[in-house]
Amino acid sequence: MSDTKNLSFVVLLGSLRKGSFHAAVAKALPGLAPAGVTIEQLGSVGDFPHYDADLQAEGFPAPVTAMAEAIRKASGVIIVTPEYNYSIPGSLKNALDWLSRLPEQPFAGKPVSIMTGSPGPIAGARAQYHLRQILVFLDALAFNKPEVMIGQMNGKLDVAAGAITDEATRKFVATHLEAFARFVRKYG
Ligand SMILES: Cc1cc2nc3c(=O)[nH]c(=O)nc-3n(C[C@H](O)[C@H](O)[C@H](O)COP(=O)(O)O)c2cc1C
Repeated sequence: MSDTKNLSFVVLLGSLRKGSFHAAVAKALPGLAPAGVTIEQLGSVGDFPHYDADLQAEGFPAPVTAMAEAIRKASGVIIVTPEYNYSIPGSLKNALDWLSRLPEQPFAGKPVSIMTGSPGPIAGARAQYHLRQILVFLDALAFNKPEVMIGQMNGKLDVAAGAITDEATRKFVATHLEAFARFVRKYG
């Protein structure tokens, strides 16, 4: 596939917190994207009700179908999420559970990259590998390396501005986006 094909990525955020560090990373991504790549935010996973098969039988909720459609249209998905208790936040898992039940399951064959962080030093590594396990069942095309794990992230961001202030982190995230774009152009 062409090296110059325009790509559109969407960002799935795993935090609901107003002052979220991961929301700041997510907002910074469009400004760090390589040429030919646009990046937009998906709706909030907080808009999804708790998964319930009885609710599903009444019809998929509108926020679920809207997010699924945006994912289907996108060239790739970037999941930016904190780690909760060594795994992914329940609200993100709930959203993935809803999306996984749709006909034309939107993650099937979809390129997906993962970015985690933490105010601590382990940087969400454990959540990242739980998420990879979930992506196997969703049959997503998970991007492997370079991995983005941002340790001590609270000192590397301007949350109000939605910016990454630490230069090394900016460079690393930009390198990841460039490599993900190459991966999508080759395999997506
Ligand atoms: C329920 C809960 C569990 C957490 N578990 C972890 C954890 O396992 N590993 C970790 O590094 N941080 C953990 N944290 C701290 C989060 O990394 C921290 O709250 C971070 O700011 C969340 O991301 P956000 O700022 O984008 O909301 C946990 C926080 C909460 C609220």
